Amino acid sequence: MQKHARTITEHARLCIPDIVNASNADDLFKRFYGKRPCLFYFGRGALWHAMKAMALSAADNIIVPAYHCGVEIETIVMAGTHVRYYEVQEDLTIDQNGLASLMDAGTKALLLIHYFGFPHPVETIKQLCVSRNIFLIEDCCHALFSCYRGKPLGSFGDMAIFSQRKTLPLPDGGALLVNNPALKTSPPTGKPGEFVAIKKALGMVARTTFHLDKGTKLPPPLSIIAATVDRIIAKRVGIRYSAGQEVTEDRCTLAMSQTSTWFMNGIRPALIIEKRRSNYLWLARNLRNSTCVKLMKNELPDGVCPLFFPIMIKGCNRQQFQDRLFSAGITTFIFGKELHESLPARRFPGAEKLSQRVLCLPVHQGLSHSELAYMVNTIQRITQELEHGDHH
Ligand SMILES: Cc1ncc(COP(=O)(O)O)c(C=O)c1O
Repeated sequence: MQKHARTITEHARLCIPDIVNASNADDLFKRFYGKRPCLFYFGRGALWHAMKAMALSAADNIIVPAYHCGVEIETIVMAGTHVRYYEVQEDLTIDQNGLASLMDAGTKALLLIHYFGFPHPVETIKQLCVSRNIFLIEDCCHALFSCYRGKPLGSFGDMAIFSQRKTLPLPDGGALLVNNPALKTSPPTGKPGEFVAIKKALGMVARTTFHLDKGTKLPPPLSIIAATVDRIIAKRVGIRYSAGQEVTEDRCTLAMSQTSTWFMNGIRPALIIEKRRSNYLWLARNLRNSTCVKLMKNELPDGVCPLFFPIMIKGCNRQQFQDRLFSAGITTFIFGKELHESLPARRFPGAEKLSQRVLCLPVHQGLSHSELAYMVNTIQRITQELEHGDHH
């Protein structure tokens, strides 16, 4: 087993106190957003149901961003409609005139991704959608608990989707909020295996407790217990509940597990927001631009609950940079590494640059300032090594 001085994960870690504090008492979304959502296993399930609510025909189109993770685009395509792409600039902004020029009589909706928790000027985009009689779907999969001008993201659009398992340490979890009463959605029809959720949750706790990163095998006896549980689960429910990039109708119709819902409802948003913001601001103060690294968002507007701290790797190889961080025990994330196959090549240079260069540093609620300091020092060291052409 590979051992590091530290193990910094890209997503929040599930700890024993999270389990102890879990309660199914009051719905997290009701508390923060003022309404109950429809809960799904994944964010893609929420998006698929949003598509179904609009009763699309094959002649309709949805306007979508050229910078994406691929899962959201595949979900829309699977729902049986066309996509039209709009450009996303290197600074993650979008050109609203460009949006307007894409809309025609067949346009049913616009998908807006609030990247890494940072809001777009959603009020003006909503006005544009209203003036063209099309629905606005806010993709808040990165933006749980983020606000814009004092109002939660996800409350501006006709519908909003979430993937709360990204911000919170949960084995599964997606959500659909419907703000437009004219839209009628159907609930998920598939029940997930609770065994799977419990096993995933225990695996997450074991990794936190023993400081193991995602790729590391569990040590015995945990590995033996995990293999036995896997066999039981495979026998009872098959393997269809594993997370992955695939988008299938089967996965999209699954509900969020009771286990995950239980953990989620024990969460206190204010603590998560405060910790993520404090970690983000700490990195913004301590990381420096260099020939390799460019900070993308130095400012953290009021109300933003960041998912990650995005940086651009230029002048050196991003894969090498990420691999060296991983070797030092720091896991980072690349959003949009592979753009959807329907995106025409070389027509969206901004999105392609983002896809090739952005690296997401963790800022989650489980990180301490000493771990952040270790991350900053490691980034400086790797930058110097790569600048001096040390390719190991
Ligand atoms: C912007 C965005 N939208 C939608 C999704 C789909 O979420 P999930 O993986 O929970 O299905 C993801 C992640 O995959 C995402 O990053």
